Amino acid sequence: APAGPVLAIESSCDETACAILAPDGTILAQRVVSQDGHADFGGVVPEIAARAHLALLPGLVAATLNDAGLEASALALVAASTGPGLIGGLIVGSGFAKGLALALDIPFIAVNHVEAHALTARLPGLVPGGAPFPHLLVLVSGGHCQCIAVEGVGRYRKLGGTIDDAAGEAFDKVAKMLGLGWPGGPMLEKLAREGNPSAIALPRPLLRRAGCDFSFSGLKTAIAQKLAPYGQTPLPRQFAADLAASFQQAVADVMADRINHALDMMPQAGLLVAAGGVAANTLLRTTLETTAAQRGLRFAAPPLRLCTDNAVMVAWAALETWAEASRQHKTPFTDTAMRP
Ligand code: KG4
Ligand code: ZN
Repeated sequence: APAGPVLAIESSCDETACAILAPDGTILAQRVVSQDGHADFGGVVPEIAARAHLALLPGLVAATLNDAGLEASALALVAASTGPGLIGGLIVGSGFAKGLALALDIPFIAVNHVEAHALTARLPGLVPGGAPFPHLLVLVSGGHCQCIAVEGVGRYRKLGGTIDDAAGEAFDKVAKMLGLGWPGGPMLEKLAREGNPSAIALPRPLLRRAGCDFSFSGLKTAIAQKLAPYGQTPLPRQFAADLAASFQQAVADVMADRINHALDMMPQAGLLVAAGGVAANTLLRTTLETTAAQRGLRFAAPPLRLCTDNAVMVAWAALETWAEASRQHKTPFTDTAMRP
């Protein structure tokens, strides 16, 4: 482990986040600012996000250090997400972090954002029984939708992923069509509670197809067709709720099928781990839990605030990377690390 705490920055989308972890992974402080200014556009505007990261970071980093009761000089390591994500924000966050590391004369570790999601469940004490390797990770967020075989630190195999939209993107777009606000996932889930999940027949894209790829655009089109007769007239409340519930059920059915296929492709998996904002959805969570249980596997999902984008996961991935590099007597990645 490094000789002191690690400070990490996350800036790949519209969350500006900073966290400080002790060398053993204990969370000393963490802050997340969800940027406003995007809702009016119905989605994240990369240019606005990058400028907001730039404006927010100095104060956020100072406040996080203050929360932890630390001077910057106490830090031993600085880390940041360096990709994948919106490039403007990534450059702002990693540039800030590299500058800090340079000023403090301590190492900088580049963290792959997807890897950070993948390793979150291994934070000490987070999930009962821990999350030993190998496990299957289902990462479902606004930007990502993939099944990953997590075999070790730095050892990941993508088993499948979406061939069009990410799951969260589909939730957001359908919510928009239903006239709900943004981000639409949570609002669609709320509306679905009043609806009947079998009221409206919708397709199950790629169901029972080989492999574990996902597709959501056909589902989106089907919804648009159901909505077309209404034109500009307001939707009857019950119809909107039934549509929301039927959509959510279709996603859950597809998810269960795809993950069963992924587990077939990875018989050595001891655990199913979910991460990403969509893993906050209650129906999807219970569906994944049932899918795992039917195969005698444990299911683990980090608590919601660590499922969505945050800097704790970046700091933890940096510590894991550091430890793995030490085990192999190698220097950890200090430049943009885009490992598959
Ligand atoms: O992980 P995240 O915060 O950001 C990234 O995209 O990386 O995920 C945000 C996504 C959004 O698309 C949002 O609509 C979706 O997660 N989401 C949900 C729920 N809560 C958030 N989707 C379905 N049900 C939810 N309860
Ligand atoms: Zn993410």
